[in-house]
Amino acid sequence: MSYQQQFDLENEYLMPTFARKSVCLVEGRGMRLRDSEGAEYLDFLAGIGCVSIGHCHPALVSAIQDQAARLVHVGNYYYIEQRGQLAKRLSGLLGQTPDGQSWKTFFMNSGAEANECAMKLARLWSKKHSHGGNVIITLNGSFHGRTMETLAATAQPVKQELFAPMPEGFVHVPINDTDALRAAFDAHPNQVCAVMVEVIQGESGVHPCTAEFLELADELVHANGGLLICDEVQTGVFRTGKPFAFQHFSVQVDIAAIAKGIGGGFPMGACTAHASVADSFEPGTHGTTFGGSNLAIAAAGAVLDTIESEGIAQNVQEVGAYLQQELSKLPYVTEVRGRGLMVGAELAEGMSAPDVVAAAQDLGLLINATGPTTLRFLPPLVCAKADVDELVNKLGTIQ
Ligand SMILES: Cc1ncc(COP(=O)(O)O)c(C=O)c1O
Repeated sequence: MSYQQQFDLENEYLMPTFARKSVCLVEGRGMRLRDSEGAEYLDFLAGIGCVSIGHCHPALVSAIQDQAARLVHVGNYYYIEQRGQLAKRLSGLLGQTPDGQSWKTFFMNSGAEANECAMKLARLWSKKHSHGGNVIITLNGSFHGRTMETLAATAQPVKQELFAPMPEGFVHVPINDTDALRAAFDAHPNQVCAVMVEVIQGESGVHPCTAEFLELADELVHANGGLLICDEVQTGVFRTGKPFAFQHFSVQVDIAAIAKGIGGGFPMGACTAHASVADSFEPGTHGTTFGGSNLAIAAAGAVLDTIESEGIAQNVQEVGAYLQQELSKLPYVTEVRGRGLMVGAELAEGMSAPDVVAAAQDLGLLINATGPTTLRFLPPLVCAKADVDELVNKLGTIQ
């Protein structure tokens, strides 16, 4: 089917929630995509950070194919192969907990669901083991999802206003504002059950938290009987060069929300917490129909195997640093931010990021604008220096 036919059908029958780009993508391999008209693209967005090991990696394709031929889904009323192994593997990647116990995981299908689970767990834990407060502090400019609760956590009034009233129990403070964070705790004594942060805010344009701010959040939330939740939906699963972005800092994270890269493009989310926190749940307190299906577990296993066997963490560190270095050479780039292969570039006055994205598409590049002057790069983690060279050479031709 041609692009035009697909465009007409989708515009007639899909809800108009996305301003889609003028291309219909039909095939992919590694860093490359091909559209319905035969044009090729170098992909620096990776399905918004999901396609961690590249498009149609043979290991992921065969894991999904083999599992689909055996068993697709039976639900959470039964034990299934490999689910415990995957959770154990995540526990190992997350590292030591303060009491030396493991991390326990709940699998679901998306980032919003992972955050929902994290917030429910924090409130339940607080009721059972602390002061019972239900306030969750999140950061201005954050993005935690589109369900009503995660939208309330997402401190961006423009996204919330149309859907008021928002669920209660959220307090928002500016990112990296230590005084505002202190003031939020002072204003809510014995009420804060969690601080929830993205270590690097993704959707608002790749804005990292400072070490000072994260360490203060860790200190204050624990001193005040709450938990530190990291939304690692975008930053997790080696996107920043370590398994999880919080591991670049000396902070005690109690609950982590994971999604995107873990399934390599197959829908999957995970909420994982120290066993002492996770055990606040009991049968009936949380659930999902599809989460942790046989197919999703097989996909995630193949993704983690590939990340390990192909030395992808090292690649992310090297190529990520190179990407930042090369982007900063572009005459119209004034600032480059991020870590590993999660990079934002701020454009000089007079340049429009959406215009650059459109021009880049014409040159065979898929990139993303998070705002009027901000570009975001989230390539597959298998991105090579040669891909960066091609990207930057082509971007260099845009005026
Ligand atoms: C940090 C973060 N949290 C949550 C979400 C929501 O994830 P999903 O769209 O899978 O629900 C996103 C999506 O971009 C995200 O970047």
